[in-house]
Amino acid sequence: MTEFQVFGDWMKGVQSTMEDALASFLPSAAQTPTRLHEAMRYAVLDGGKRVRPLLVFAAGDLFGAGTDLLARAAAAVEMIHAYSLVHDDMPCMDDDELRRGKATVHVKYDEATALLVGDALQTQAFLVLSEGGHIEDAARAVAMMRLLAQASGSVGMCGGQAIDLASVGLNLSLGELEQMHRLKTGALLRASVLLGAMAGKSLRDEEVAALDAYSSAIGLAFQVIDDVLDATADSATLGKTAGKDAADHKPTYVSILGLEQSRALAEQLRTDAHKALMPFGENARRLRDIADLIVQRKA
Ligand code: IPE
Ligand code: IPE
Ligand code: MG
Ligand code: MG
Ligand code: MG
Repeated sequence: MTEFQVFGDWMKGVQSTMEDALASFLPSAAQTPTRLHEAMRYAVLDGGKRVRPLLVFAAGDLFGAGTDLLARAAAAVEMIHAYSLVHDDMPCMDDDELRRGKATVHVKYDEATALLVGDALQTQAFLVLSEGGHIEDAARAVAMMRLLAQASGSVGMCGGQAIDLASVGLNLSLGELEQMHRLKTGALLRASVLLGAMAGKSLRDEEVAALDAYSSAIGLAFQVIDDVLDATADSATLGKTAGKDAADHKPTYVSILGLEQSRALAEQLRTDAHKALMPFGENARRLRDIADLIVQRKA
């Protein structure tokens, strides 16, 4: 990946590297129990925008990380993300039938398999992160696993999902809504950025602070745009059921602020993200481009 590559080509390169990495880090579908392994591969491979891996690689680019460790870190986050989607779609949560343009895992297989796919992807993520050359630096390997664990659990993604489910039909304040979005979506995006950076070197406090400010902005912007797209795009474009938030009486940025103000907030957050990257200069261009992608995306 040369530094003169335009963003679109760089992005395709990372996505293709990740498809191969994920395929190799998942158990073979020929291995027993074959149905579970096939369903794990169905949930992860051949779909999704791979925004979290892009963040891992972009932050890694900034801090000179090697491709092998970046691929492991990116695969680990993407496996946690894929597990969160499988569970998010189950009847006990959002009860969705379409994901990444395909039938959801519980529809294609069955509910028990979907539950186990999520469980197994979660542990597979930590397995992938616990192997490879970087474990010779045990302190760094543990710090990376700890970061991912915190971002995934009850003070991160799972906590956000719990708030989301408890909020159906309620009028949340803007502050409460922001807290929910920061946890259910922002936490894993922040972990992606920090894992990529940590794969390069140990970070100074001011570097962590700048990356945190960037992650905070894009993390919230990502879910604001997810809410906007749910209300404005169609299912074929999204690859998931459009209009689901309103149908399910979920509090969202669109339901609380309206479309125009939600879009304006996302734009403001994009500016905040760019500002946060200023100390890194031109080297942070990939992270800047991803902030643009997150706010301007159509799916
Ligand atoms: C969807 O995430 C769920 C949210 C956290 C908003 P993505 O929009 O990143 O889904 P994929 O990975 O591209 O399918
Ligand atoms: C899901 O939020 C966030 C996680 C899966 C952690 P949503 O429920 O809004 O995601 P979509 O819209 O189904 O992708
Ligand atoms: Mg949900
Ligand atoms: Mg959902
Ligand atoms: Mg949504």
